[in-house]
Amino acid sequence: MIAPEMYIHMYRHLYASAYSGGMHTAPVPLARRAWTALVPDHVFDFWAERVSPTWSRRRPLARVVAREMAADDTVTLVLAANRHVRLPAPGQHLMVGAEIDGRRVARSYSPTLLPGRRVSITVKAVPGGRMSRHLVQSARIGDVLTIGEPFGTLALPVDEAPVLLLAGGSGITPMIALLRAETARGITRAITLACWVRTPGEACFVDELRTLAEAHPSLRVHIATTRAADPRFAHGRLDAATLAALVDAGSLPHAIACGSADFVAHARALCEPHAASFQAEAFSPPAAQPGEEGEAEIRLARSGTTLRVPRNQPLLVALEAAGLRPAHGCRMGICNTCACGKSAGTTRDVLTGARDPEPATALRLCVNAAAGDLVLDL
Ligand SMILES: Cc1cc2nc3c(=O)[nH]c(=O)nc-3n(C[C@H](O)[C@H](O)[C@H](O)COP(=O)(O)OP(=O)(O)OC[C@H]3O[C@@H](n4cnc5c(N)ncnc54)[C@H](O)[C@@H]3O)c2cc1C
Ligand code: FES
Repeated sequence: MIAPEMYIHMYRHLYASAYSGGMHTAPVPLARRAWTALVPDHVFDFWAERVSPTWSRRRPLARVVAREMAADDTVTLVLAANRHVRLPAPGQHLMVGAEIDGRRVARSYSPTLLPGRRVSITVKAVPGGRMSRHLVQSARIGDVLTIGEPFGTLALPVDEAPVLLLAGGSGITPMIALLRAETARGITRAITLACWVRTPGEACFVDELRTLAEAHPSLRVHIATTRAADPRFAHGRLDAATLAALVDAGSLPHAIACGSADFVAHARALCEPHAASFQAEAFSPPAAQPGEEGEAEIRLARSGTTLRVPRNQPLLVALEAAGLRPAHGCRMGICNTCACGKSAGTTRDVLTGARDPEPATALRLCVNAAAGDLVLDL
């Protein structure tokens, strides 16, 4: 069991070393460079893997070194990263990959950085979910996972201004990473963290959050359940009245929201018009937009293919349904892996509804749908 005090202590120590330049990699010696030129990567990895499962010449890998249940259907895994893993800043995400039933699957998770090139991820199993159910139910100590580049821009404002953190369900994970970093640094600004879970059993980090709030008077924590009431928590959904009780709604501070697409859309509608700034990242795919019926013609300039796709679907989903395999990562408009050029036509951002008729521009396939016929650089 990783006690909350332990996390707080480890994180304070880590913050002091990692962000004061204590994590430099040594220059590659000449002999190693010559050896690298002679032995192909796959041969090196084949033999290296037999010595240590995360040894690899270039592949960023991490081994599961601890696991514990963090809430109902939710596990925290501690991963020891090899030297190729680029460690994330607080609030960033990593693509974590595993082989499940003979197929490679990768999904985004929001880690906390721990000492000794370790990160912890907390994963909630979603019904029918391939990766989340695998990590929660089957991942064991010793398993090796692939790790992608860190991505995402969620960050607390640098000016020490007050912040409001809004988390729906597993959207708590980047918030706890931000909060751990901030409290390790010695919190001075006012921070209000409000999180919503359906049932009391789904609430993660409760003891740690309460310990942090007791230790830091400028931190306020509000945990609410939306379905089953419980005397330990508030009850109710995110709405204008709750917001007004948490912060002065007339002058909302910087607000950051994370959770499902619906939660983020709701938080955006409530906060964005009044907040000093608003950042948000959605963890689940946007729902199909109503009122965008019919099909559009997409010409793929590089492959010379033309196909018809539904106008109410993100282009990534529509292209996959047509049998194509465009590069992608998070599928939520955050990592930029699916960015592709558009040379004609109008697209609609499925998160905000904004239309972009600009002819020569780049778009993210996962969060844009065709608002008319398009020519894409694919
Ligand atoms: C930037 C980013 C950071 C993330 N960080 C975390 C994290 O720290 N912890 C965590 O538990 N999850 C996190 N997620 C969600 C995670 O990446 C996966 O989407 C989630 O684990 C489900 O993957 P799956 O393979 O099990 O489901 P899939 O097999 O991909 O999908 C199964 C079904 O579940 C639905 N679904 C997919 N994702 C979600 C979701 N998040 N909530 C509800 N339904 C969903 C799908 O629409 C589908 O119907 C993050 C997502 C993003 C984009
Ligand atoms: S897949 Fe990450 S931005 Fe589209």
